[in-house]
Amino acid sequence: MTDRTRDVDDRSADDTDRRVCLDLFSGLGGRKDTEHGFSSAFQAADGWEVFTVDVDEKFDPDLCADILDLRPSDLRDLVGDYDVLVVLAGHPCTLFSTAGNHDEWDLEAHEPTGERAQRHTAMLFHTLGLIRGLAPDYWYLENPKRSRINWLIGPPEATVTYCQYGMDYQKPTGLWGDHAPGMTYKSCPRGANCHAANTEDDGTSAVQSMPSDTGERSLFPRELSEAIRDAVETAIETPPPTQSELPLVTDGGSDQFGDGADRPAVCVDTLDYDGSETHQDTIEGEVTRHYYDCPNCGHPISTWMDCPECLWYDEDVWSRTLSEEVTAGD
Ligand SMILES: C[S@@+](CC[C@H](N)C(=O)[O-])C[C@H]1O[C@@H](n2cnc3c(N)ncnc32)[C@H](O)[C@@H]1O
Repeated sequence: MTDRTRDVDDRSADDTDRRVCLDLFSGLGGRKDTEHGFSSAFQAADGWEVFTVDVDEKFDPDLCADILDLRPSDLRDLVGDYDVLVVLAGHPCTLFSTAGNHDEWDLEAHEPTGERAQRHTAMLFHTLGLIRGLAPDYWYLENPKRSRINWLIGPPEATVTYCQYGMDYQKPTGLWGDHAPGMTYKSCPRGANCHAANTEDDGTSAVQSMPSDTGERSLFPRELSEAIRDAVETAIETPPPTQSELPLVTDGGSDQFGDGADRPAVCVDTLDYDGSETHQDTIEGEVTRHYYDCPNCGHPISTWMDCPECLWYDEDVWSRTLSEEVTAGD
């Protein structure tokens, strides 16, 4: 019997027999005949089995159900035993988009006040609970970069723009979750000529360049799905080095973690504090996160994180910043 609770680090390449991808909120992209979609690269690859879940039967999901009615055991029954599990969740963004539904939110307290926003907030935390219950090897939750999800669970682990993955439009997108290491997340600056430009401040022109059908508009780029699948496969097939194999770091180079990421080096003593945010986690209860300004690009980063925007990370700077706070608090 497969032990689902094994740590991914315990595995060697030859016992990864059954690789499963579970696509929650699969939508149009979960259909086997669609080019794009969150799980499209997993669908196309040999060696992966994909299971899709959506409430709308027109997308022909493997399990047609309201996520709020599901428990982890339902999803385990759906996918069966596995050796590797990746969960993808393209959570609906309608109520989280900062472009609308302002009357559904307390915009100062950053809390849902309307019935629909409350339901979607409950669905977000329920989804996170399902993922936690499944304990996948890796998981990715997708929403617009500036989604109100930021208010509820903090900033994403990474951001991308769809134009960098073969789409005509920019669509800055956040990826939350526990990701396979080593992936380069590609994004372009606002106003770059690689996508339909935002000539209006509210992004209307760029939105107009997107497909009018909401199912197509929310389609996840195939190339981004491939980048995620490749990172997962590399992580699975490359066991972590043992201590004796670790390279000797002699020059404090920018590839600090040996993950191929080019991290900017910034000469700074400590980080500037940017405030805190408290939210209710269905499992952990009240959770408070503290934020600091990335010294390289100014993006908010929470304690001990590397910057999702520019990848800056410096263990010594984090240690100094946090020990200074402890000392100040004494
Ligand atoms: C943003 S789209 C997903 C896009 C898709 N991941 C892709 O790659 O094309 C959101 C999907 O969530 C589904 N959905 C909305 N509410 C749901 C619920 N309560 N339970 C399950 N699925 C739901 C919608 O039917 C829709 O297909």
